[in-house]
Order: sequence, then C-alpha cells, then structure tokens
Amino acid sequence: MKVTYDYRGSTVLVTGGGSGIGMASASAFAAAGAHVVVADLSADRGNAAVESIRAAGGKAEFRRVDVAREAEVIDMVDYVRRTHGRLDVAHNNAGIEAINVPLAEAPSDNWRKVLDVNLSSVFYCLKAQIPVMVAQGGGAIVNTASAAGLIGGFNLGVYTATKHGVVGLTKAAAMDYATKGVRINALCPGAIDTPFLAELPKPFLDRLIFGTPMTRLGTPAEMAQAVLWLCSDAASYVTGHALAVDGGTVLGGIGTRFDDLLEQVAKPQ
Ligand SMILES: NC(=O)c1ccc[n+]([C@@H]2O[C@H](COP(=O)([O-])OP(=O)(O)OC[C@H]3O[C@@H](n4cnc5c(N)ncnc54)[C@H](O)[C@@H]3O)[C@@H](O)[C@H]2O)c1
Repeated sequence: MKVTYDYRGSTVLVTGGGSGIGMASASAFAAAGAHVVVADLSADRGNAAVESIRAAGGKAEFRRVDVAREAEVIDMVDYVRRTHGRLDVAHNNAGIEAINVPLAEAPSDNWRKVLDVNLSSVFYCLKAQIPVMVAQGGGAIVNTASAAGLIGGFNLGVYTATKHGVVGLTKAAAMDYATKGVRINALCPGAIDTPFLAELPKPFLDRLIFGTPMTRLGTPAEMAQAVLWLCSDAASYVTGHALAVDGGTVLGGIGTRFDDLLEQVAKPQ
C-alpha cells in the first residue's frame, strides 16, 4: 500500500539532514511538497542533499550548523523564522556514535562530546523552536533518539544515556506544550543502513542483524515514513511518544537469540 502525505506550504527543518536518516526525512518532506531547510555540520553533505532534493523537483536549501553550539542553533531557527515566516516541522536528528567500550573505560571527554551533540543539542533546538511554533499556533517536532533510548546495550553506556535523555526531554516537553498545539515525539530507530554503521566491522554488523528479530537492517526511507506520519494530521492525538521503528529490536529477549544453535543441542525425546 502506498501512503502519501501533503506537506505543501509547510516549512520543515531537519538537522543532520546531509546524510542517512536526516537526508531521507528531508527528501521525503520535500517530495511531499514542503520547503526543507537541510541543516548539517558538513557543508559538503548538506549541499549534496539539497542538490539531490532539487534534482527530484523538491524545494530545499542548506544551512550550516553545529547543533552542539546553542548560539548556532538559535541562529538557525531565527533564520528559518525570518526567511520563511514560520516553522511547521522540526526533525532534530543530528547525532553521533560514542566510543563503545565497557562503561568504566569510557573516556570522559567523549562523554561530554556525545552528550553535547546528542542531547544538549535537542534541548537547544526545542528551546529555540517551541516559541516559534507556539506563536504561530502550532507545529510538530520529532527528535531522533534510538532503540538505545528505550533499552540498554552492551558497551553502549554513553550513547544509551544520551538517547534515554532525548526520550525523557521529549516526554516532558510534550506535556508542557500539549495545550499549545505543539506535538513533540521521538523516533527510536533500530540498526539502520546509514554511514553511521559504516565503521562497524562486518562480524559486528552481522551480529547486530542477527539480534534483530526481523534479521535485517532498517532503511533510512523507513525512518522517514515514521517521521512524516508523526508530524502529520494522521498523528494529531500523538504526543510524547517514543516510537520504536526497529524491526523488533526493543522487544527484548534474554540477551541474544540462539536459534542458530538449536541443531547443536540434544533434541528433547
Ligand atoms: N543508523 C543507525 O543505526 C541509528 C540507530 C539509532 C539512532 N540513530 C540516530 O539517528 C540519527 C541520524 O543518524 P544517521 O544514521 O543518519 O547518521 P549519519 O552519520 O548518516 O548522519 C548524521 C548527520 O549528522 C550530521 N552531524 C553530526 N554532528 C553534527 C553536529 N554537531 N551538528 C550538525 N550536524 C551534525 C553529520 O554531518 C551527518 O550528516 C542520529 O541521532 C543517530 O544517533 C541512528
């Protein structure tokens, strides 16, 4: 079944829009008629994303931002408000991996960096975006958290803490603005096929896929579909929700699946 959305007349801001999930979301919003501001640390990636959106007939522009710097975030949102007169949708998505080691070995400077980029950034974005949306009578925000915003993970303490923080911030902010027409939700992706996972050695990636009930990576386009739905009128009664789009990853299980080992153990008589 093909689902389509109509975002004509909307101004959409996507951070981390130059790659992966953000780029897919920016492209999908543009394909649905929105004007998209692609914000990213990398001008190369951001401009390339804008080019590809324009080549497909969409409307987009690039704005460079380091979301870990509050002044730059304020500037970015102010630019959108001044230039377009409104901000209908914000997808606060930029994020980075941490150094993945057992917690006691996690370097403190990496903790501070990942906290700044993954969590403080969302706080800065919400602070800047919400007043614009309240003043115009409403809007929708999606913060990209992670399956690691809902459950723990081996060697993922730093990253997990930042993404649980994103979910917490989303829920609390959603309550504060529920009567002001601003809906705020979180997207919790599982393992998604983006450059984010490119550094992962193949055996690790295979293990990640095997541990996912659907035994495959998700696609950035699948994340974009969830974001477009969350921001649409179809989700008009949904706020403060942390939506796992993860092939079943957060369903649990006791650490790992072992159906591949069943043949190695004695069959019951
Ligand atoms: N790919 C996955 O498996 C996965 C799973 C769960 C959650 N996530 C989350 O999804 C989001 C997007 O990840 P992705 O997989 O698309 O990664 P990606 O690396 O493909 O894209 C991230 C983009 O964010 C930009 N960025 C990084 N730091 C920035 C900063 N300080 N300011 C502005 N832009 C910055 C990068 O330049 C890049 O274009 C992240 O928040 C990530 O934590 C990803």
